[in-house]
Amino acid sequence: MSLMGILDRVADAAALDKVIDPARRAVQAALPQPVKDFLHGTWLGHPVHPVLVHVPVGTWVSAGLLDLYPPFRRAATVLIGTGVAAAVPASLSGAADWSEQDVGVRRLGALHAAANTAALGLYVGSLMARKRGRGALGLVLSYAGLGVASGSAAVGGHMSYAQSSGASHATTAARALSKDWMDLGPLDDLPEGRPALRTGKGSSVAVPLAVVRRGARVDVFVGACSHLSGPLHEGKVEDVHGHACLVCPWHGSAFDLDSGTSRRGPAANGQEKLEVRMEAGRVMARLPARSR
Ligand code: FES
Repeated sequence: MSLMGILDRVADAAALDKVIDPARRAVQAALPQPVKDFLHGTWLGHPVHPVLVHVPVGTWVSAGLLDLYPPFRRAATVLIGTGVAAAVPASLSGAADWSEQDVGVRRLGALHAAANTAALGLYVGSLMARKRGRGALGLVLSYAGLGVASGSAAVGGHMSYAQSSGASHATTAARALSKDWMDLGPLDDLPEGRPALRTGKGSSVAVPLAVVRRGARVDVFVGACSHLSGPLHEGKVEDVHGHACLVCPWHGSAFDLDSGTSRRGPAANGQEKLEVRMEAGRVMARLPARSR
């Protein structure tokens, strides 16, 4: 069986949920919403976990190279310590994202977290061994840590690229939309201050859009939430941190009606927003230039 086949088996293993579900609830309960938003990366407009993980990955790989040359081993030890310290916020951001993912991602995420914890333990052991003058043991432990961390990085990559963890599902949905102006019907048919479902023309399938009217102003979004494709037309309009937002009914992500920016997670990516113009009392919308 291929490595990807093994990872798919893990993602299918429902037996893991007995352990994962309580852990997930514990993470959700332990982190207040502002901390979760910080760890998700709503302030950055991008998941913050991949930004943070490059520090432990970079320092540990660099330490592995420096350790090959005995005069550089002190520098390697400093890099290992830096990676150990940086692994803490990286793990927290990963845990916050993991707790809001769907089931297959959570199962592989548990494997990813277990491997990262093992790698961290090996590096901590290496630091202790180096401090006590047991350099050979320190080398063995740090190279073992590098091996485990590399395997874990492959699992994380599979979560991102094969399972779309952290990717914007709204951007994917937008790709199916027509590049032309679309007629979404009369302005007067739209309800005031709550989202309505309209259908956008797609090249082969119709694409749901979430349309919000506030007086004469209309905001049109791709209907699939950027987090996990929740139906935004079933959400509500709410004030979040002083901004009028469209709130997803699945996990509560809030998108600024004016800009599409995420104002509350778990979505870190913003929501795809369409250009709008009125034509003889009808709402016309099309994708922005970056998506056409
Ligand atoms: S699908 Fe999770 S917040 Fe929208």
